[in-house]
Amino acid sequence: MKIFIDTANLDEIRRAAEMGVLDGVTTNPSLVAKEKCNFKERVIEICNIVDGPVSAEVVAVDTAGILSEGREIAGWHKNIVVKVPLIDDGIKAIVQFTKEGIRTNCTLCFSAVQAYIAAKAGATYISPFAGRLDDIGHDGLEIIGQIRQIYDNYGYETEILAASLRHPKHVLEALMIGADVATIPGSIISMLTKHPLTDKGLASFLADWEKVKDLV
Ligand code: E4P
Repeated sequence: MKIFIDTANLDEIRRAAEMGVLDGVTTNPSLVAKEKCNFKERVIEICNIVDGPVSAEVVAVDTAGILSEGREIAGWHKNIVVKVPLIDDGIKAIVQFTKEGIRTNCTLCFSAVQAYIAAKAGATYISPFAGRLDDIGHDGLEIIGQIRQIYDNYGYETEILAASLRHPKHVLEALMIGADVATIPGSIISMLTKHPLTDKGLASFLADWEKVKDLV
């Protein structure tokens, strides 16, 4: 499963990239707003740090507007994937972007039938938001499992990008289901290597080594 980082913060992106296991980046208008930065400049900076897919979202909600914004955004850098909301006008735009060879990330997906339509439109990625479904008492990961089954049943090539992940257990569940990608906030990526028994074990190995290291 590929790992994308879900942020527009450059320090977080650099930190995750330095570990050598980062495959891409997702942003959204809220994440960009949090950084109080120029959208275009920030997206290009991100593309220059991570040589992988970088999702940048349109804010138009009509097909003509989505197409014109998306074409412009896609022209900023070869790594860019145009993020399009899962609404009727967005689906129409994805059909056209697909014909033009522009990669898309269909976002704000909350059901498996929505994901089915996005795949038929030719979306490169579908982003089901697991955490936001959990927040309203649904099972976000169950929907990702349904999407996996539908895509496998019919051979859709759209990649499942598990999004809105809130803790390492979400990452584990996405792995078990067979999601193609997980987009994860930096704070959760840092948690993936951590275990108290690892720290305890390492401390005890190092302490024991101190006792014998000078023996000949
Ligand atoms: C995905 O592309 C979205 O940016 C993100 O995962 C949404 O997560 P949130 O529900 O924590 O805002």
